[in-house]
Amino acid sequence: MTAGTERAVGVEHVLGPVSEIPAGEGRAYGVAGRQVAVFRLRDGTVRALDAVCPHRGGPLADGQIDADVVVCPLHAHVFELGTGVCRTGRSDVESYAVRVEEGQVVVSIP
Ligand code: FES
Repeated sequence: MTAGTERAVGVEHVLGPVSEIPAGEGRAYGVAGRQVAVFRLRDGTVRALDAVCPHRGGPLADGQIDADVVVCPLHAHVFELGTGVCRTGRSDVESYAVRVEEGQVVVSIP
């Protein structure tokens, strides 16, 4: 199955089974010296963003999500899951190409 957004291809990293991420939640992974938050949407697709909120370092993987955005659990700034764009006036976060392949989350880090 292929999911996620199209981006320039980077180095791919297998993070682990998608089954570790409950539907509608996120989980943070350390990969290539970064903290990456992977979100599993209720439709089964996945999205990946930097895991550290640019406001004051909140854990974005712990934020509430819907189909389009994650809300930082600390002060409720809102980031688009597909692009990392902040909808509430703060800095954007990096977004990453991510997909599920044979049950494994595969993220591409530029
Ligand atoms: S740390 Fe994320 S909104 Fe403040």
